[in-house]
Formats: sequence, structure tokens, C-alpha cells
Amino acid sequence: MRTAIVTGAASGIGRVTAERFGAEGCAVLCADIEGCGETVDVLRRQGVEARAARVDVADEGSCAAMVDAAMGWTGRIDVVAANAGIMVEGDVLSVSLADWQRVMAVNATGAFLTARATLPHLVDTEGALVFTASTVGLSGMKGVAAYSASKGAVVALTRQLAADFADRRVRVNAVAPGAVRTPLSEGQFRARARDDAHFDELLDGVIARYPLSRWGTTREIAETIAFLASDRAGWITGQVIPVDGGLLETR
Ligand SMILES: NC(=O)c1ccc[n+]([C@@H]2O[C@H](COP(=O)([O-])OP(=O)(O)OC[C@H]3O[C@@H](n4cnc5c(N)ncnc54)[C@H](O)[C@@H]3O)[C@@H](O)[C@H]2O)c1
Repeated sequence: MRTAIVTGAASGIGRVTAERFGAEGCAVLCADIEGCGETVDVLRRQGVEARAARVDVADEGSCAAMVDAAMGWTGRIDVVAANAGIMVEGDVLSVSLADWQRVMAVNATGAFLTARATLPHLVDTEGALVFTASTVGLSGMKGVAAYSASKGAVVALTRQLAADFADRRVRVNAVAPGAVRTPLSEGQFRARARDDAHFDELLDGVIARYPLSRWGTTREIAETIAFLASDRAGWITGQVIPVDGGLLETR
């Protein structure tokens, strides 16, 4: 049985990605800085072999412990969704240095450390690594300087790792979601909103930017991650696939 690790599996895109891997017959290690008990319960009710692990992806020792948990459980790692991430608002003048460093630590260094810890095992299984980048890593957006820089690093790391590990038969790709309603995106707009009415107005404003006139769903992002991680994408590596309702290509 293939083993998948999903980081950021306690919530949002990561939780649904864990379910998707389970549906494809993987044993799933659900890893997050928060508890993944609910995710694991859902998976087990669906008949999936699942376990929870605590990880801070910004910490090298913690990533090593996550890998030890997977290897001690099933003895193999075939698929990794490096998905954990955080968002902080602000342009270069308004974001604090501490916030910049926190976002880079989790989103960029966290992607690097997750890759570094898991790649030796992905080499053994000729497996696949999928990052969750963002449309904001491919194009600018007002007021998210640290987040945008961190996701740009994820995009570059995807291409670099694909180049470095192709000869060892590990494929490395990324999904670049547009706006998906999760605690992360809602937190972003809560931070900007003056009150509830303004919050709703901001959410409507998001939809207005998208040619397909709606938010993406966690399911749609998870489907793409699962595809990129599967043999169906066996000749795809180094790609960053926008799943964004047409945002990037139709402006
Ligand atoms: N929601 C969107 O609109 C959107 C758009 C583009 C990209 N993304 C990316 O998708 C990924 C998932 O985000 P989401 O929208 O599902 O948000 P979310 O907040 O629902 O989930 C993110 C998860 O990451 C976990 N996490 C945060 N810091 C961590 C750390 N240091 N170590 C381990 N886990 C940590 C959180 O606890 C949380 O469970 C993120 O990388 C995010 O940047 C989201």
C-alpha cells in the first residue's frame, strides 16, 4: 500500500487532500502543527488507514520526526503533499520584519525542510512531491508582500527540485490555487474588514475578479494535487498548475 504524507492536514485544502489520497488507496499520515484528530476520524470512517502527526514544518527536527513516524508505521513514503501554509497581510512598508520572517519560515523554509526530510524516501519509492504554491507566487496581488515572496520561493523550489531529482525518478510539481474559502483566506479578509458587512463586501469583491465567478473549492485543489501525485501524471515534472477559475490567463 502506498503511503502519503499531507502537511497542513488539520484544515482546508490539506484535510480534503488527505481524504482524496485515502480514496486512492493510500495510507495517510496527516501532519499539522494543530491536532489532526478530526481529519483522521473522517478518514478512518471511510475505511482509510490514517494516523496523525504533529509537525512544525519550519523546524528541521520536527520534519525529521514526521518522517520517522511514517517510516515507523508503514516503512515507506510514496507521496508527499507539502501544503502547510500561513498568510499575513501587508505590503513591504507595513509588514513587520517578524511577520515577514514567520511567513518565510513556514511557507518557504517549511517547503524546503519538508522536501529535505522526505526526498531520500521518495527516491527509494520513485515517488512524487506536490507543493501547494499560489497564484500569488506567479503574479503580484496588492497587499500580501511576504506571502507572495514565500510562494514565489515555492514555485522556484518546485522547478529546482524537479531538475535535481528527475534522474532519481522523483517527480516534483505544484498546484497554484486561486481563492478558496478556508480559515486562511477568511482570516485574510477578516483582517481587512471594518465589520461584518464590509467582510461580505470583500468576499463578493473576490468573486468579481474571477472569470468563472466563484470561489474555488478545496475538492478542486485536492483533485489536482492527487492527479499530480499519481501515475496518471507520470511524465509531468517541474510544473506549477494554476487552479484559479481563469484568473491568471484572462486578465
Ligand atoms: N485558501 C486559499 O485561498 C489559498 C490560495 C492559494 C494557496 N493556498 C495555500 O494552500 C495551503 C493550505 O491552506 P488552506 O487555505 O487550506 O488554509 P488552512 O488555514 O485551512 O490550512 C493550513 C493548515 O496549515 C497548518 N499550519 C500552519 N502552520 C504550520 C506549521 N508551521 N507546520 C505545520 N502545519 C502548519 C495550519 O494549522 C492549518 O491546518 C497553504 O499553503 C496556502 O498558502 C490557499
